[in-house]
Amino acid sequence: MSAPTPSDQARKRVRTRHFAQAKASGHKITGLTSYDTLTAKIFDDAGIDFLLVGDSAGNTVFGYDSTLPVTVDELIPLARAVATAVTRAFVIADLPFGSYEEGPEQALRTAMRFMKETHAHAVKLEGGVRSESMIRRIVDSGIPVMGHVGFTPQSEHGLGGMLVQGRGNDGERVIEDARAVERAGAFAVVLEMVPAELARTITSELRIPTISVGAGPHTDGQLMVWTDFAGLATGRMPTFVKQYANLAHVLGAATRTFRDEVQNGTYPGPEHSYTEDTARAARD
Ligand code: KIV
Repeated sequence: MSAPTPSDQARKRVRTRHFAQAKASGHKITGLTSYDTLTAKIFDDAGIDFLLVGDSAGNTVFGYDSTLPVTVDELIPLARAVATAVTRAFVIADLPFGSYEEGPEQALRTAMRFMKETHAHAVKLEGGVRSESMIRRIVDSGIPVMGHVGFTPQSEHGLGGMLVQGRGNDGERVIEDARAVERAGAFAVVLEMVPAELARTITSELRIPTISVGAGPHTDGQLMVWTDFAGLATGRMPTFVKQYANLAHVLGAATRTFRDEVQNGTYPGPEHSYTEDTARAARD
């Protein structure tokens, strides 16, 4: 992936081969989550390489307290909205909890549903060694897969909470998981919440690109949940989140101004109201 300029954003689609090229050239890959058409268009226009329609929608869109309850039927319209909006970015649909763990055939059926019904370009699923056969089956059917190891939110309860994975002797387990994802044919792997030095080791060992979510700077790319990076989500943020904007503040202020202007009669003004003439022009 060469550095996106305004003209090359006009607009060669990002493909899996561009992920491989980015790793080879050292160009950092950028990703954000997206769950709707308006943000997808903004992120695509800004040159973000891939958009993940993450099961984090369980928290950010549906208000669940984890990603576990979110379903395929809930994610499909979101993935379709994102895939429809972009002209360059590579769109990846997340397979939610319960939609692939039974085995390779269930995983393939779910992946096919996402590809047919949303027009996404790839799917992502969690787990390394335990998901190897599922990843292989999907890849063998021609669907690109992004893996996800380290902290895997769908296993939050099994892992004992949102905890950094791969510290000390546990590092070898995460390395084995990343190797399994590569062996199975995935085109890239997310490393979530692992120590930066472990992520560096994995990145130098693997041929496929590594994408960090809280795995430090020594990976081939970075991914953030958009509501975190843009400051729409409020409350305590994980250490690895950098807020590039404060949308919650901006939106809150605009909302209070709207409420006040309606209540004091400032809005709508004459410029926001139709006359006989402007109504005719609007109709013609
Ligand atoms: O669903 C999601 O947003 C994710 C990323 C945090 C990797 O899986």
